[in-house]
Amino acid sequence: MNTPSSILDAIPRRLHVQPDHPLTITRKLIESRFPGYKTHNELFPIVSTVQNFDSLGFPADHVGRNKTDTYYLNKDTVLRTHTSAHQADTFRANETEGYLISADVYRRDAVDRSHYPVFHQMEGARTWDRAAAKASGKSLADIIWADVDKIPEHDVVVEDPNPTIHAERNPLQATHNADEVEAIAAHLKRSLEDMVITIFNAAASATPADSNSKEASEPLKIRWVEAYFPFTSPSWELEVWWQGEWLEVLGSGIVSQPILNNASVPDRVGWAFGIGLERIAMLLYGIPDIRLFWSKDSRFLSQFSEAGEIKRFVPFSKFPACFKDVSFWLAPKKSAAGGAGATSSSAPSADSASSTIVPPAAPAPPTPSFHENDVMEIAREVGGDLIEDVRLVDEFEHPKTGRKSLCYRINYRSLERTLTNEETNALHEKLRGLLVERLGVEMR
Ligand code: PHE
Repeated sequence: MNTPSSILDAIPRRLHVQPDHPLTITRKLIESRFPGYKTHNELFPIVSTVQNFDSLGFPADHVGRNKTDTYYLNKDTVLRTHTSAHQADTFRANETEGYLISADVYRRDAVDRSHYPVFHQMEGARTWDRAAAKASGKSLADIIWADVDKIPEHDVVVEDPNPTIHAERNPLQATHNADEVEAIAAHLKRSLEDMVITIFNAAASATPADSNSKEASEPLKIRWVEAYFPFTSPSWELEVWWQGEWLEVLGSGIVSQPILNNASVPDRVGWAFGIGLERIAMLLYGIPDIRLFWSKDSRFLSQFSEAGEIKRFVPFSKFPACFKDVSFWLAPKKSAAGGAGATSSSAPSADSASSTIVPPAAPAPPTPSFHENDVMEIAREVGGDLIEDVRLVDEFEHPKTGRKSLCYRINYRSLERTLTNEETNALHEKLRGLLVERLGVEMR
């Protein structure tokens, strides 16, 4: 268990289904471009490691499984890290040819204006039945191409320089044939282009005409980039040219056939995508800080309505920032002899101090190593939404002792009011105490 109560408290918020919430409006705008797809918005966030990782073909040693990255409730149960955790079960239910799943997802990560440990994703998938095609006497590829023709056309420039299938970089799956995959890829790309263009056009028309950012008036451009996910192949990311830079907006690909086979729908083939909703909502409305989505302040909430046009968010004022640094030495590494550097919690037990001769080659027990996400989490726990960001500003290794010291700069700033000195000092003291207590660091 490495899940703090502050994270569990987010579970009942369900921002993506709150009326007039910007995430709800963004979700509905996307859903409107996928008529006939079944929507799921109520799937519970606590899932098994099988659902979140194994069912999707994540290898046993994948970094995503680490406790530094994922919130565990016990060794087999996690807060889902992505909506893909529900792919297998949704395919197994086999209700419709297409589905959209919107949900809160949880990841241990940095603290800054675009990262929050709870955010929202939408998963979408569309499949076709080979057996039904066979029975109808048509080729599956022809059936899919007929569906491609039903997707609305657009006139936005699309860069797509790579072949659909590339033997090394983006391979065809063993049980697939290239004609079918070309058709599925065309359906995927046309569907997702239509969705993304709808959103960015809405964002562009929400941008005030007097905007002093000249890039805002640049025509929209999108491009497909080869990607890798354990559960799709071939795979692509879609990027959008927005205000002068390429933004990655979604991941997608041809669904791994073993997922469908294990979900008892082996005759189905199709595509899937995943998109982060906060990122889209932030640029749709010009929301500058991801913490705002969690605000209960009416100066935020009253600015959004499901009825009518998208209007740009008007910041209700920026309260002063208060920067405070914290510098500390990392806990010394235990030596193999268990001598000098051992901390109290790892003092050798009577057992290991016995006369048994340990071969010198035997590795020392692994030292619990420092991970930056632990600092981030302690900051979240202490400051909650009163911390805007946490940044590493200095790193130093002592030339003689080899000890390492780090300095983090904490930016205390509320979105809703001016913090008092006493308040930030108290938060910072508490932060320092917890760093020492939990991470075994030594304050400088
Ligand atoms: N689950 C992936 C992520 O969180 C996105 C994805 C979904 C990619 C479906 C491909 C297909 O990054």
